Order: sequence, then structure tokens, then C-alpha cells
Amino acid sequence: MISYNEKERVFKLDTPNTTYMIGIVDEESFVGHIYYGRKLKEAEAGYLMRTGEPPFVPSKNNRERCSFYDCFPFEYPTGGVGDYREGCIGVRTVAGHAGSMLSYVTHEIIPGKPELAGLPATFGTKGDCETLRLVCEDKYIGMQVELLYTAFQDTDVITRSVKVTNTGKEHFYLTKVYSACIDMDNRDYDMVSLHGSWARERHIQRKALGYGIQNVSSYRGESSHQDHPFLALVDRNATQENGEIYAMNFVYSGNFRAQAEVTQFDYVRMTMGIHPENFCWKLESGESFQAPEVVMVYTDKGFDAMTNAFHRLYKKHLIRGEYKDKKRPILINNWEATYFEFNTEKLLSIAREASQLGIEMLVMDDGWFGRRNFDDCALGDWKVNEEKLNGGLKYLVDEVNKLGMKFGIWFEPEMISPDSDLYRAHPDWAIAIPGRPGTESRQQFVLDLSRPEVVDCIYEQVASVLRSANIEYVKWDMNRQLTDIGSYGLPADRQGELYHRYVLAVYQMQDRLTKEFPYLLLENCSGGGARFDPGMLYFSPQIWCSDDTDAVERLEIQEGTALIYPLSTMGAHVSDCPNHALGRVTPFETRGIVALAGTFGYELDVTKIPQEDRDMIPAQVAMYHKYNDLVREGDYYRIASYSQNHKYDCWQVVSGDKKQSLVTFVQVLNRVNFKSRRILLKGLDADKRYKVVFENDDSVEDAVYSGDTLMKAGLLVPNPWGDFRARLIYLAEA
Ligand code: DGJ
Repeated sequence: MISYNEKERVFKLDTPNTTYMIGIVDEESFVGHIYYGRKLKEAEAGYLMRTGEPPFVPSKNNRERCSFYDCFPFEYPTGGVGDYREGCIGVRTVAGHAGSMLSYVTHEIIPGKPELAGLPATFGTKGDCETLRLVCEDKYIGMQVELLYTAFQDTDVITRSVKVTNTGKEHFYLTKVYSACIDMDNRDYDMVSLHGSWARERHIQRKALGYGIQNVSSYRGESSHQDHPFLALVDRNATQENGEIYAMNFVYSGNFRAQAEVTQFDYVRMTMGIHPENFCWKLESGESFQAPEVVMVYTDKGFDAMTNAFHRLYKKHLIRGEYKDKKRPILINNWEATYFEFNTEKLLSIAREASQLGIEMLVMDDGWFGRRNFDDCALGDWKVNEEKLNGGLKYLVDEVNKLGMKFGIWFEPEMISPDSDLYRAHPDWAIAIPGRPGTESRQQFVLDLSRPEVVDCIYEQVASVLRSANIEYVKWDMNRQLTDIGSYGLPADRQGELYHRYVLAVYQMQDRLTKEFPYLLLENCSGGGARFDPGMLYFSPQIWCSDDTDAVERLEIQEGTALIYPLSTMGAHVSDCPNHALGRVTPFETRGIVALAGTFGYELDVTKIPQEDRDMIPAQVAMYHKYNDLVREGDYYRIASYSQNHKYDCWQVVSGDKKQSLVTFVQVLNRVNFKSRRILLKGLDADKRYKVVFENDDSVEDAVYSGDTLMKAGLLVPNPWGDFRARLIYLAEA
């Protein structure tokens, strides 16, 4: 899987269908990038580094050292000494200087994959993967840089991360540490990224890559609604089924920058890492900084193959815990049902009705603690409001349990309301620039989690609520982004560490929580889907995808999310109409079918919705039980995209043994006098025959076709009558 050709000084990392190659060149042992692409048989492509062309290597032409630095394909470029492209690492010494350059020192090849201290990361054992640890140094600064590469054997993924150690006598400051870089020839790529806003997360954008720097980033303190820690450079002709794709995804939940830079020689440098804005980490002599992990996927088989590489990795090598491979309880959440206006009786009335319909868990959302009857107070005061929850929390949970349902609860542990007992006691516990009035957002501040006493206080409050009753689910919310980056707890020359220390503390709290309550189903959330990233998935197997629960809006949001993340991770609920986010009315059936492509649950007052909607719930519940294994475990294929064709959406999941498949078809706007829609299915076994059942269309008779016919000639889906209509089509080996 990973080999080193000592004579050629070339490392070759193989996954099932790809090869990544690294070369060591010249007497100064520069570490160069040779190749990433389709699997090669031999480690003989070192010539791709072009060291045989002018300006040659410094030992042969030192008068053009600068030109060498500025065009050599570096594995981990530095800066300040001649490479004018953007580097991956910034160092400021005690003397205030910034140049650095790395050379190879040693390496080891390790079975499996080492953990990254304090950070979420993908994992794998000896049989799953192998890791290359490349040690480099800048001897003038006294800095060691370890480049870690893991090649997986069951999916076409290579992961990378970086650890920087101060091996000198004096401290220095890291002003930038990216985690991955690929320097390669530009071949007229398009750049694919994900963008949005609150309630509009992860819409796919594709545009031509041009000269200069193009990036996507967040310095909002979280991965964000607005941009996403994902970047792909793709063949201009790449489709779902064909074409080369280089993709990167960041296993991190804070500030990031993902960038492509096309340079003077038509090379492209693709990088990803922590955003350098307001980042400055002091490294004392002997200390190390561990940068988070980047997941890299290469394929020449288009977006479906890229997606399945990410899905396989995340399902098998990232998500952990009790619910890793399990069906999740169907929940009903009271947020859109009641907002802040509820009490024990109201919640129990919802639970009673829901339990009759087959719903399995009641989740009590925001508003159960302190004096919180609106979003203007009490964050930080995690004490049950017994005026609302008359009888107490335990009574409520026990009553819900008696109905045969589980109970879940909402927290927003990272926040503090100015109107809270906690803030009155500890105003310095909020992130703030001393002397400057803080910027409120949703009338709240963010807690300074770089202070261990803050983390302990909040963790203990949350844990004591969880210890007080049989609570089996937590929704961990975060409803504002960071501003006023200042800490009362950090010295002046460590203020630049706050953003990253904050993220590390969130990870530490979730680690503690999942260790103390290992049976808990944790669902992360951030004002909808602002922190839907692999870092969070390491702690919670599902994340609330968006506050927009409209079935049509969800098509685009779920398409963009599923481009990288397994369907099993996408929090998706059926809500009431007119939709609370944008006022659209869609059929209850369609809302159910769209939510089936995620974790599936309800977010409505089941005692108030129209009787005909309520009557559909048992059938939807049955569909969930029938198909969730397939949805959770199957391979996902995108057949058509509403965001591209503006008419209909279609996706498919196929079981690993190719014996079953589920196709979801959503026609957004109907058109008059049109024929049925022909869709070409994917991923089936051409030699198998399949019985095709239209689950919710009696006008279509069950039929049997071969996988070959269904994939090449296609299947006809009759035009549903009306707008916003969905079809669920089940295929089973005949
Ligand atoms: C934002 C979440 O996305 C909602 O589902 C809800 O939990 C609210 N916060 C509560 O404040």
C-alpha cells in the first residue's frame, strides 16, 4: 500500500484505484509532489517534478534558487524565501522574521492510523490502512514538521495532517498551518464548492477556475452556513459518471480556508487548512501543534464515485458510537410545534398522539430552562423551569417513557445570554474584547471555552440534567457565530489562539459527554446546518441539516449535503404547512418522502395538523422501518438534479449486494401535456432481474426488468398530477 523506493527516493501510496507519489530531490532533500491520479504500477514518474528542466535544482544552478522555489511542486510549501505562491505554513521567530523552508529528515511507514491529539479524525486498523510519517525540518528556525499521509484500502481516500514541533531553544509563533496541499498541472478545471446562508445551506456551485487565487473560507468561528470546508477541482467535462475529480474535505468545525491558485506556469496549487485570519499560536521550545485532518479523494469516474468514497469513509472510519450502524428512533421535536410556548401537559399531549402513530421519541427543544420564554435570556442557566415543566423533568420523562417513547432534550452549551444568572456572576466568561461593547447576535454572547473553568461549569450543568432522568438523546445547538475575538483568560501573545482553542474545547466537551453517556444519541445543530462537517460527525452520527424543512428547498440542501455526507447523517423532519421558513404548501406525502432520505422525524404539532395528514403518519413510519437499512447503508447515486434542471429531482440508493434499490423521484413543477419521464438507473447488477414497485402510485403495475435494461434503457415514471409530487420506487431482485 505504501512503499519507498530508496534508490529513486520516491514514496508510492496506493488505494484500490489511485496512486499518490512523493519524491525527495536534490542534496538539500526538498520534498516534492510527483503525482496523484489513477493507480500506477511503477514508482517511476519522478520526472514529473521537472527537475531536469531550467531552472534545475539549486545544487546545479544556485543562481536561480528563487526560480526553483517558485515553480517546484512542493508537498508542503513554506514561504518568504522564494516561493511566491501561497504557502502552507507561516512562522514568526522571536526576532520577528518569517521565512522558512523544509527538507526531508526521515520517515516511517506505520500500520493503521495514529490518532491526532485532541482532534477528531478518521480511524482505521492495520488491515484498513497504512500511514506514512514524513519528518521534515527547518534547521535555521529549529522547527520539525511531520507530514502524515494515510492510504485507505477499502475506499479511494488519502488523508493528510501536519504536526509542527519547536525543536529550537526559543519560542516562535505559528501564523498559519494548513493541513494539505497538492501542486499539480492545471488542466482547465472547474471548481466545485458549497455555499448558502441560514436555511439555505450547502448549495452546489460550479465555475471555471481561472488564474490567481480563488478560495472558499469561514472565519465565523464555525464551518458555517455560508461556505463549506470542501473544495473539488474537476474536469471541465466531469459528470456524475465520468471525469477526473480532486476533492478535499476538512475534518474540522472552525475557521477554514480551501483554496486553488493557478500560477504563471499553469500549475495549480490546491490547499486546505485552518484560516490564518486572527490565528497566531505560540510554540514554546519542545511544544507541538497538531493541525486537523484533510480527507482527499481522487477519481476519474465522476461525482457519484467521489461521493461514494466519502460516504464509505465516513460511515466506516469516522462515525462512532452506539448508533454508528443502527436505525435511529423516529423522533418528534416540539420546536416548530410550540416554539417557546409549552408545558408538561402540552408536551405529553403531543407524545400521546405521536406514540399512537408509531413515533418513537419526543424531543423537547429550546425553552425548558431558566426563565426562557423567548430567545432573549437564560442561556448558561441550565436549570429546569418547573413553572413550565410542572412536576419536574423526571416526571415528564417517565410519563413519556410510559408511552413507550424515548425522551430527548435540547441544549445550547456554548452560549451565554447577557440576561442570565451566569453572565451576572461571570461577565468575563463571554468572548469579548475588554473595554469594547460586545456584539450581540440573537441576543446572546459566546462563552470563552478557552477557559477550563467555563468548560467544567457548563459540562457539569449539562451532565447533571442528563443524570437526573432517562434522557436518551441530546440536540446540541449553536445559534450564533463568533465576534469580538478576545479572551479575559489568555495572555496578550496567546489571544490569536482563541478561535482554535474554542473548537478544541467543543470537541473536548462532546468527547466527555459521549464517554459519560455512551448510549446517548447526539445530534449536532447550529442554527440549522451551520456546523455540518466531519469534525462534528466524529461525535454525533447525525446533524440537523437546515432550519428550512420545506420539501422543495430541502432538495437542493440535501443534494449538496449528500454530495459528501452519508444520508444517515442528515437530520430531516416532516413539518407542517404553510412551511414556517417560506410559506410554501407541499403535500404531506412529499414531505415524508423527502425526509426519508435523511434521519426521518417530525417537527409539528401532531395534535393540530389536518386529520388526513395525521392519517398518513403510520404509513410513513412503516416506510421508514422498511427502507431505512437500505437508505443508511446503501450506495447513493444522483440521477437528476432539480437545482440544475429546475423541474425534477431524482436519487437512488442501492444495497451493497445489489439485491435492492430505492429510487426517489420528486417532480417540482408539473407541465401540461407531457409524457412520462425516462430515468436511467444506476448501480444495479446488469445480470440481475428486478421487480419494480411504485410504492405510492397505483396506476403503475409492478413489473420485472433486468438491471441492464433499467440502467441503459431506463425506467418510465408517469407524470404525477400536480406540483411538488413525489414517487418512491422500490426494486428487489426478482
Ligand atoms: C436552531 C435550531 O436549528 C432549531 O431547530 C431550534 O432548535 C432552535 N435553534 C431553538 O432555538
